[in-house]
Amino acid sequence: MKKSVLYSLVVLFMFGCQDNDKHLNLDGEKLLKQKCSSCHNLDLPPKTFENEVAPPMMAVAFHVSDFIKVNQEDERVVKSIAFVKDYVVNPSVEKSFCDKESLKAYGLMPSQKGKVTQDELQAIAEYIFSHYTPKNLQEAQAIQRKLDMMPKGQRLALQNNCLTCHRVDKDLVGPSFASIAKKYKNDTTVMQESIANGSSKKYKNFRGVLMPAFKDKISKEDIKTISEWIVKR
Ligand code: HEC
Ligand code: HEC
Repeated sequence: MKKSVLYSLVVLFMFGCQDNDKHLNLDGEKLLKQKCSSCHNLDLPPKTFENEVAPPMMAVAFHVSDFIKVNQEDERVVKSIAFVKDYVVNPSVEKSFCDKESLKAYGLMPSQKGKVTQDELQAIAEYIFSHYTPKNLQEAQAIQRKLDMMPKGQRLALQNNCLTCHRVDKDLVGPSFASIAKKYKNDTTVMQESIANGSSKKYKNFRGVLMPAFKDKISKEDIKTISEWIVKR
């Protein structure tokens, strides 16, 4: 008995120590996802504004940092972080920077007291004001514009990481899309089958390398769209 009590104490002590260490390098991005994403949309920029129960985190970040009262510019981030740390545990209509109509539509944020510590909030808020910035928004929008302009098949190939192994005009880990297209001309049946179920040993320069199966990750229709892009590009 005594031994087990002692053991529990040792374990408690060890975990207590670990906890203290962790405060020094909490992951704000992960914590934001864990503690805030059930209500706030975290996308930069949000892809949809439907079914919202709270303002998107991007709007929260821009709001707070725009409206916070500062005497000097260099106080802005520090004061914004302090606002978030307070607001999350002590929200009120008076403190909220939400306009009255939105506040009425969303309802006041329920206090998260007991669900998140001040150290965790420090990490979360630091992440918020370094990630949701006009510069990062512009970059994300520029990438999105590029994606929007691509043919859908190319966009799907990019988004599904096909390009980690394939290039259009040169062999990489797998054969070039150009050489695959040449082989099948306009018939994409075999290609669709291979993308869905994987392929190996068909290309003599790539013996021993497996083309993984994608049927659980990509819909039949999208596989068809990618295959048609490969032959028609
Ligand atoms: C249960 C749902 C819910 C959770 C969980 C939640 N929020 Fe909110 N939050 C809201 C709602 C609703 C609003 C809008 C109304 C308001 O301003 O109180 C809001 C508003 C805010 C505001 C004020 C925005 C402004 O413009 O004044 C901040 C800051 C904020 N949330 C941060 C957080 C952070 C950080 C977390 C995670 C630790 C979090 N929230 C978790 C629902 C939630
Ligand atoms: C891990 C690397 C890897 C990834 C990721 C990958 N491929 Fe492949 N792919 C290969 C290899 C290697 C081959 C050659 C296989 C063989 O010899 O049969 C191949 C072959 C192919 C073929 C020819 C199959 C045939 O039957 O002739 C097509 C089409 C193809 N890949 C499309 C894709 C698409 C589309 C994606 C993304 C959804 C993708 N690949 C992702 C490695 C990869």
